Amino acid sequence: MMKTVIHKLPKLLHGGDYNPDQWLDHPEVLAEDIELMKKAGVNTVSVGIFAWASLEPCEGVYDMDWLGEVIDRLYENGIYTVLATPTGAMPNWLTEKYEEVRQMGSSGVRNLSGKRHNFCYTSPVMREKTKKIDMELSRRFGKHPGVILWHISNEMGGNFTDGTCYCPLCQEKFRQWLKNKYKTLDALNTAWWTKFWSHTYTDWSQIHAPAPHGENLLHGLNLDWKRFSTEQLVDFYNEEVRAVRTNSDLPATTNMMGFFKDLDYCKFADSIDIAAWDAYPEWHSQKDEVDIAVWTAALHHQFRSLKKAPFLMMESTPSITNWKVNNIQKRPGMHELTSLQAIGLGSQSVQYFQWRKSRGSFEKFHGAVIGHTDHGNTRIFREVSRLGKRLHDISDEIYDTCNQPKTAFVFDWENWWALEDAAGPKKEMAYVGTFLSHYKPFWEMGIDVDVVPMEDDFKDYQLVIAPMNYMYKPEYAEKIRRFVREGGTYVATYFSGLVDDTDLCFIDRQPLDDVLGVSCEEIDSPNEFYKNHILYNGKKYDTGDLCEVLKVADAETLAVYEKDYYGGYPAVTVHTYGKGKAYYMACRTEEAFLKDFYGDIAAQCGLENGLTDRLPYGVTVSRRENDEKALYFVQNFNPAPVTVWLKGCFENIETGESVSGILQMSGYSCVILKKQIER
Ligand code: GAL
Repeated sequence: MMKTVIHKLPKLLHGGDYNPDQWLDHPEVLAEDIELMKKAGVNTVSVGIFAWASLEPCEGVYDMDWLGEVIDRLYENGIYTVLATPTGAMPNWLTEKYEEVRQMGSSGVRNLSGKRHNFCYTSPVMREKTKKIDMELSRRFGKHPGVILWHISNEMGGNFTDGTCYCPLCQEKFRQWLKNKYKTLDALNTAWWTKFWSHTYTDWSQIHAPAPHGENLLHGLNLDWKRFSTEQLVDFYNEEVRAVRTNSDLPATTNMMGFFKDLDYCKFADSIDIAAWDAYPEWHSQKDEVDIAVWTAALHHQFRSLKKAPFLMMESTPSITNWKVNNIQKRPGMHELTSLQAIGLGSQSVQYFQWRKSRGSFEKFHGAVIGHTDHGNTRIFREVSRLGKRLHDISDEIYDTCNQPKTAFVFDWENWWALEDAAGPKKEMAYVGTFLSHYKPFWEMGIDVDVVPMEDDFKDYQLVIAPMNYMYKPEYAEKIRRFVREGGTYVATYFSGLVDDTDLCFIDRQPLDDVLGVSCEEIDSPNEFYKNHILYNGKKYDTGDLCEVLKVADAETLAVYEKDYYGGYPAVTVHTYGKGKAYYMACRTEEAFLKDFYGDIAAQCGLENGLTDRLPYGVTVSRRENDEKALYFVQNFNPAPVTVWLKGCFENIETGESVSGILQMSGYSCVILKKQIER
């Protein structure tokens, strides 16, 4: 049985960001909202996200009656509230009176008032003002029967300029953090290898955050600054949670943002009660939907893996965004399909940004359930309402299930930071792209995966894949050694196991040489004139821009390079270690190789989707389960109908019909099939 985090509403949530604070002088709009929410099958809205100026119009003067009325009215109509703290955007009275609350960029220039996500994480004034308003929200609404969850701030760290604050308060706090970590300057100088270019620190005050016009080539400094910034925001989050909990025991979360490099989201895992993210894939932006579906699925896996439990899709657009180069409307059916994609991958919600379009300012043309005109009489409203009904009808069947993959990808933020800062064989190391290219075959096979950091214990898995795991944190190598020895299958690639967690290169030997049975002697980054191939199982595949020359100790060679001075050298190897196997892929390759290779690995590990042996192009399946049943979310991302050949007999949970042999699916659609589990 799945752990229920949102006790007060154990259902799939449907709704989204709701900004009644923008419409307080239009009571007719607020009344219409409730009526239309009921029609659209909305059961939950997130309120107050950017409402600080309405909640505290001037310093210390709170005006929360309007919010009380909104929450009451929603609740009377069966709609629950996710209550946000308003720190995502600051009011002018605050930013003008106390300049320290405004972030300073890495150039040393402090932001002016305005925008959002630009508060200093360290400022005592910001923390004090935040605590006060959060405690007041808790006092007023912490025990309201209609409030189900705290939504802390909004997309923390997301200002997209420097990503973090570089003010003197943060710099001083950073020095303190370094003192706690290293104790002595000698230890820090060694860890950061500061003798290089004579940058040895002789006093703590000489240390500054990395900046374009200053030090930014000490890789240990860059890494520690990112770690520090993450910890500061986690600490800020924790303080907000303590404040809202003064009169409440509701769970709390914060909405995160996909592959957001500046913050190590895994460090939030212990603090949040349920993971939440905002999903804005660029549907219809490519020749077909496959790569976008892969990107989106990988992130759903990632956010589910944060707590290894169901998560919330806290935002998505029902139609278009307004901040991409082209903002493309979701074609009919796409909204329902992509919403069910999220549910199939472990989401407990389909929430939108936004319920109603704002009338002015930056997001007036961003998609919403209710537009400026025609309100409940639009294609979008009808599609949202149809989905609302569907979610309501399937909720009980789905709610207490979750995905339980046997495959894990190692995706680690600290590795990401270090790898892309490495100044190694290639300028753009493309960690995310590499991870996605290795994940794609699993999407195509319909095999669920977890996406975990190096801190995982890997006990839940049969197969662990670690693309470009350049940095090995303490104990990582030992955990992998144990995992393989006890029967696991491990896949490592080029540019792995080169540095420790301070970005110092391992000397003498690479830590998993014994498990992999190979070591890397050279790495080449050829351009198109030196393009090579590998030969694997009688087939020839293109190699890419990273090719290692290996020394083989006692591994078996599965593929060799075709030519050049490393022609005939191993390109893919396998080594039996204890009861398990460790594979090494020495070069980047075209997608076709990854597809064939992982197909072979999955077959050897006995990993399959349980639904079909052959998924048509553009079709995938994900599986939620509990002790009694498995639910298969079959998703067709093609605009055209497809046929899927099923293995065995299933029940369509929506029609109650039993389905075997052939499943016919229309374009852009999702069918949910069930099978009882006999244990
Ligand atoms: C999110 C943000 C929302 C809204 C949305 C627009 O990143 O949290 O407030 O701006 O983007 O797509």
